[in-house]
Formats: sequence, structure tokens, C-alpha cells
Amino acid sequence: MSIVVSGIRPTGKLHLGNYFGAIRNFVRMQEKDNCYFFIADYHSLTTHPAPEDLHGSVKNVMIEFLSCGLDPEKATLYVQSDVPETAELYLLLNMNAYVGELERCTSFKEKIRYQPDNVNAGLLTYPTLMAADIIIHKAHKVPVGKDQEQHLEMTRTFANRFNRLYKVDYFPEPVAYNFGDNLVKIPSLDGGLKMSKSENENSAIFLNDPPEVIRKKVMRAVTDEGPKQVNQEKPQAIENIFALMKAMSEPSVYDFFNDQYNSMTIRYGDMKKQLGEDVVRFTEPFREKIRQLYADEQYVAKVVKLGAEKAHASASKTIREVREIIGFKTF
Ligand code: ADP
Ligand code: TRP
Repeated sequence: MSIVVSGIRPTGKLHLGNYFGAIRNFVRMQEKDNCYFFIADYHSLTTHPAPEDLHGSVKNVMIEFLSCGLDPEKATLYVQSDVPETAELYLLLNMNAYVGELERCTSFKEKIRYQPDNVNAGLLTYPTLMAADIIIHKAHKVPVGKDQEQHLEMTRTFANRFNRLYKVDYFPEPVAYNFGDNLVKIPSLDGGLKMSKSENENSAIFLNDPPEVIRKKVMRAVTDEGPKQVNQEKPQAIENIFALMKAMSEPSVYDFFNDQYNSMTIRYGDMKKQLGEDVVRFTEPFREKIRQLYADEQYVAKVVKLGAEKAHASASKTIREVREIIGFKTF
């Protein structure tokens, strides 16, 4: 049985990219592996959320986790800050992480471009905190989207470095994992490569978006004047709509519009109308479950408490052993 760890920052609500890139795989993996799925609220502090918003965002994501079919009896579902052992391992790993390699990380460069007035040390050391999350449970597999591959590479570097420095074979080498398929990337509705809440809220479809909002967002998706030649290659924005349709609609529906594109008879308005309906249908069960869970605070509180206990048991064992390996001794 493999140990599986993954986390999501509570920066709002979950969108289709999060679902296909991460959570759908969590749901599949909980059936046979020993899974730890958490809400990365320490990580979210790198963007300075207002204290009055933090709890609500964590609760949103926990409810949306549950709405996707994550089962607290099968997997350990927890909140990162309920397991402060993570913060201790992060401190220890930072002693052994080099500023140069952290500065070269693509996500760091992107983030400082995005928030030039808040280039805090937590942003720089984001990868060591993420490594701590993963290796605190001695994970083998990490289900994440393609954008997280470099962080996983750094996690392996830190884990190996620890093993070499202390001449132990303690931490396994975790790998990015996608259940059976290639790592997926759900594109954005604005023509960009990645659906993302951090980049453009309106380009993302959230699991809890009401049907009329979904229809509007899909109708507004970027397109062009139409194909100029038969069987031509699709520009990015058009490729995006087709990619979303592939994920959401029946294969025959996808083929129907693809054939129309290739024969230059396509009307994007019709295609988007169909896609909007298919997204509404796909997301309906999530919306319903989210509504039910919001009405049951006690259940959600019970889930969080159980998760904290299970995650704490695993993390405190690792920290005890790591302290021993490093040479901390009790008097
Ligand atoms: P965002 O970019 O919207 O802030 P996060 O960075 O919080 O999303 O991503 C959380 C998880 O969802 C990660 O595992 C990430 O790889 C995955 N993910 C996010 N957006 C996409 C996407 N468009 N396609 C596939 N996976 C995605
Ligand atoms: N960095 C991840 C993201 O932005 C979130 C995350 C934090 C994570 N710690 C993790 C993912 C550990 C997997 C494992 O999506």
C-alpha cells in the first residue's frame, strides 16, 4: 500500500481545474492507498488573507472536498495548521535548502511578478513547506496537476539531501501522480493555458457556481472568427474550448463539433450553448452536496477533528525520528 499526500491552498473555491488535476485522483486513490489530503492554510498566508476570511475559506474547501466524494473514513482529511509538526519539519528542511535553488523556482518567479509588493520569505520557502507536508507522512505518491511537477522535483532533492547528510535511508522519493493518465491541465476560458483562480477569477468555472453563472461564463469564453481552412490546426483559445468539451461532454458531442470545425461549418455559439449545458449537468451533484454540507456544521467539525488526530499521529512519529537522526537528545 502506498502512502499518498496532497494539499490544496484555501484561496477561494474549487474550480474544474482543481477537480480534474487533483481531486478526482484523490477520490480514486482513497480506495486503495493510505491517503492524507489537507488544506494548505499555512501556505495561503504567503498572500496575506484577512483573518476574518481565513476560516471561511478553509471551511469552503473542506466542504467542497467532501462534496467531491472524499471520505473521512477512507482518507485522512485535515487542515495543515492543525498539524504544527509540519512547521517544525519545514524549519529543519530550511537549514538545508539553498537560497539560489529557491530563487530559481519557476513558481517563485511567477509569484513575485504577481505580487511585487509582497515578496516575503514564505514565498521563497514555499517549496520547503510543501516538501515538509509531503515527507512528514513519508509519502510515495503525490496526486497534483502538471504545474506542481517542479515542486515535486524539489521535494525529492530535499528528501535525498537529508538522507545523504545524515547517512540514512529515511525519506522515500515521492513522485507526482495522476491516476492512470497523463497529468492533465484544464485550460482557461480566457484563452490562457491554465484555468486558475489566482490568475483570473472569471476564467474559471467553480464547482459551486450557479447554473446561470456557468452558462454566462461559457458563452463569454474567448473564440475567434472561425476556421479559415478545412482541417486547420486550432488556435489556443479554440483548442481550450475543445479541451473543456472533451472533459465535460459525451465523446459523440465532441466529435460532432470537431467535425464541424474541420469542415468549417461550426458556429461557436451553438458549441458554447451545448458546453454550458454539459458543464451545468456535470457540476449539479457537487452543488447539491455542498448545499447539504453547509447545513450540517457538526458533521464538518467532526470530520476535521478526526482528520487532525490521524494526521497528528503520523506526523509526530516522523518528527520524533527526525529529531533523533539530526542529533537532538533529551536530557
Ligand atoms: P489555482 O491555480 O487556481 O490557484 P491551485 O494552485 O490552488 O489552483 O491548485 C490546486 C491543485 O489543483 C493543484 O494540484 C494543481 O495542480 C491543480 N490544478 C489547478 N489548476 C489546474 C488546471 N487548470 N488543470 C489541472 N490541474 C489544476
Ligand atoms: N502547492 C500546491 C498548489 O499550489 C498546494 C500544496 C501545498 C501541495 N502543499 C502540498 C500539494 C503538498 C501537494 C502536496 O496547488
